[in-house]
Amino acid sequence: ASQELRFDGKVVIVTGAGGGLGRAYALFFAARGAKVVVNDLGTPLTGGGASHEAADGLVAEIRRNGGEAVADYNSVESGAAIVEAALKAFGRLDVLINNAGVLRDKSFSRMTDADWDLVQGVHLRGSFLCTKAAWDLFRKQKYGRIIMTSSGSGLYGNFGQANYGSAKMALLGLSNTLAKEGAKYNVYCNTIVPVAASRMTATTVPADVMELIKPDFVAPMVALLCHESSTENGGLFELGGGYVTKVRWERGRGHVFKADASFTPAAVQAKWDAVTDFSAPVYPTTITEVNWLDLLEQAKHLPTNPTSGPPLRFDGKV
Ligand code: NAI
Repeated sequence: ASQELRFDGKVVIVTGAGGGLGRAYALFFAARGAKVVVNDLGTPLTGGGASHEAADGLVAEIRRNGGEAVADYNSVESGAAIVEAALKAFGRLDVLINNAGVLRDKSFSRMTDADWDLVQGVHLRGSFLCTKAAWDLFRKQKYGRIIMTSSGSGLYGNFGQANYGSAKMALLGLSNTLAKEGAKYNVYCNTIVPVAASRMTATTVPADVMELIKPDFVAPMVALLCHESSTENGGLFELGGGYVTKVRWERGRGHVFKADASFTPAAVQAKWDAVTDFSAPVYPTTITEVNWLDLLEQAKHLPTNPTSGPPLRFDGKV
């Protein structure tokens, strides 16, 4: 236990901490010495409405356990106010867990503008505004840890979650850039793809499985990523029920075509196996990892592209 990571003196904001995963994070950080801002708007799962009950209940529980916490009831779309609350209560900020979320699941054909905007607003804009409010503070103190909460729905797609999945994937994009901009200031941003029992999963996951995927089995990994000693930055992790794995991009070796008029759809089709081949992959982590100059040089010396079959045409299509 003496080797357990501690957060004494650190201030942590957990957004959407009133229930589910956020609640587990808040309890975990508080138990290890952190001062916690328990942010929660107190909305139903599908948004709309507000209540202080969940945040107040958790703050009372943390205090009963001997920890330090304050409640904050702002929407994550008022990120600056949440960061203000941390500074007012505790005078500093070290960790931001972007966790608040809502769902408006509908098949794409039935999804309205309002369903789209609500979900994008809470997940993407909310995480942006909270992070934006914390960013300069983190940079100035040369320490900050940020968590973005993505989803398998974003990484892989999921029926009925076009709004949610696209916001969740956008958070990975945000994290990728923040990791690069924050690196030299010791401001690290990582993205998690959790699986956990909460009201979000209550209708889709059987009760006996819910027991096995308690939010408590996500919190320790989030704490590790947020510790001062952690050097992980720009990572993506899938986790739940005790399982933790890193996830990364894979790029095939690809095929270099002659870049001239023979570069036609039929020419690409003829090399489809090479274009989609993953037998000799690379795992890029920066935008500069394709050596374009080298590829362009190779292309120069190629013969014109062979095609198989007739040219692809679009007659009659609009
Ligand atoms: P949850 O519904 O139990 O918790 C979300 C909390 O966010 C609620 O307490 C809600 O009141 C709060 N909230 C909603 N809108 C808010 C706003 N505008 N401002 C402040 N607070 C707001 O759900 P759960 O499962 O704990 O989800 C936490 C995060 O993890 C979400 O971002 C969710 O999308 C993500 N996630 C969860 C998965 C799971 O298996 N439970 C899977 C993948 C992602």
